[in-house]
Amino acid sequence: MNAARLNDDANERGSAQNHGASVGLTADKITIRGGIPLIGRIEVKGAKNLVTKAMVAALLGETPSVLKDVPNISDVRIVRGLLEVHGVKVTEGAKPGDLILDPVDVESAHFAAIDAHAGSSRIPILFCGPLLHRLGEAFIPDLGGCRIGDRPIDFHLEVLRKFGAVVEKQPNGIRMSAPNGLKGAKLELPYPSVGATEQVLLTAVRADGITELKGAAIEPEIMDLINILQKMGAIITVDTDRVIRIEGVERLLGYNHRALFDRNEAASWAAAALATDGDIFVGGARQAEMITFLNVFRKVGGAFDICDDGIRFYHPGGDLKPVIIETDVHPGFMTDWQQPLVIALTKAHGTSIVHETVYEQRFGFVDALVEMGATIQIHKECLGGHPCRFGQRNFNHSAVITGPTKLHGADIVVPDLRGGFSHLIAALSAEGTSTVSNVGIISRGYENFIGKLRLLGADFDLEG
Ligand code: EPU
Repeated sequence: MNAARLNDDANERGSAQNHGASVGLTADKITIRGGIPLIGRIEVKGAKNLVTKAMVAALLGETPSVLKDVPNISDVRIVRGLLEVHGVKVTEGAKPGDLILDPVDVESAHFAAIDAHAGSSRIPILFCGPLLHRLGEAFIPDLGGCRIGDRPIDFHLEVLRKFGAVVEKQPNGIRMSAPNGLKGAKLELPYPSVGATEQVLLTAVRADGITELKGAAIEPEIMDLINILQKMGAIITVDTDRVIRIEGVERLLGYNHRALFDRNEAASWAAAALATDGDIFVGGARQAEMITFLNVFRKVGGAFDICDDGIRFYHPGGDLKPVIIETDVHPGFMTDWQQPLVIALTKAHGTSIVHETVYEQRFGFVDALVEMGATIQIHKECLGGHPCRFGQRNFNHSAVITGPTKLHGADIVVPDLRGGFSHLIAALSAEGTSTVSNVGIISRGYENFIGKLRLLGADFDLEG
């Protein structure tokens, strides 16, 4: 195995198009010799889908915030860059993974600077509420993110308008202003969107009056964002039935917070252990936020031991079993968990169904698996048992996986973040050699995945 060309240059900035370089990964292609069980211990840090929002929340404080367990991933780099162009001073703390965010000198940024830093991330939309409070205006460039469906921002714009924001579409993005300040509102989301719920939280905490949000998302990452906002001085009540009430306050201070662990990364390594007949201890993983995943993992035939400092995931021997999964909002089975788990399902004895109900287009990654020998058919119908909002709309959103099949090596190209990790697992579990290209995108959400693969005994070479 070649020495992975990694460096930890904390000052290196990267555009979103160059995800890997921004976190020190210079290779974009991995040649993997598969068939080796992944065995060992790795650690997961804070959740990408919390840390990036927590960084935005720091904009609302009058004093600096300290965020702990921040992973070195390119999505964090993008948000850091965006905060810096708005005058937030971001420095590393004494311990690895600590970030200090000082928002005292927040200022407007030029469109070109925002655009250059936003890259393909969707996080800029969440800057709107805090910037409207701080500066009275905000600009967001056209948004990116993984290509896993249309990923519109209509819910975001609708709730911002209800708070009193004036939204103007411009050729290269959206400009917002709040000439009369932002006021609490009665809101209801048509779907429990994670991002739109965060938008409401980040805007309502400093709006004038009370906000009631019905149909809110209640993912653990959202609950941790609420923990952070409460530390800052916000008053937020989470009621039953997806109702969140926020009493706006006049000032918020900085926070000191250790981020919730990344349960998507933990589930990805768990799936890698199962698919490679391996045994991986994921340090930092916790049971409470993974209950739904653990149930499915056990039903497929995986085993786990819950420990104080993490969770051990392993293949206990015997045949893997087929399952029927419907992805859903929390507390359902997360959409981000299906792609890695599908590789284990190609090895299960029987027919599995995965009905994707969160994103309409999240099976782009299976073409490569079919090329590697998997038997997977994609259908437009809702096959999981419950009709979903994509059922009558011609979206390829149900997968039928028939196993067991032996995967063989192939040349594959990573399409998106979670699909990319799934491709890595496929190559690691396949017989023979695979070349996986465009792996830089995986650095958006998986810290030092090359180093972790090496720790777990994978056999691979990197190419520029
Ligand atoms: N939606 C709309 N309009 C909107 C917003 C969302 O129609 O204005 C739809 C989306 O198109 C999608 C559904 O609502 O069909 C759910 O989207 P949601 O807003 O919940 O997703 P998100 O906030 O854009 C976050 C994570 C995703 C994760 C989803 C679901 C971040 C940065 N991203 O996305 O993570 O899959 O919630 O849990 O937090 C990933 O990590 O790879 C990833 C894609």
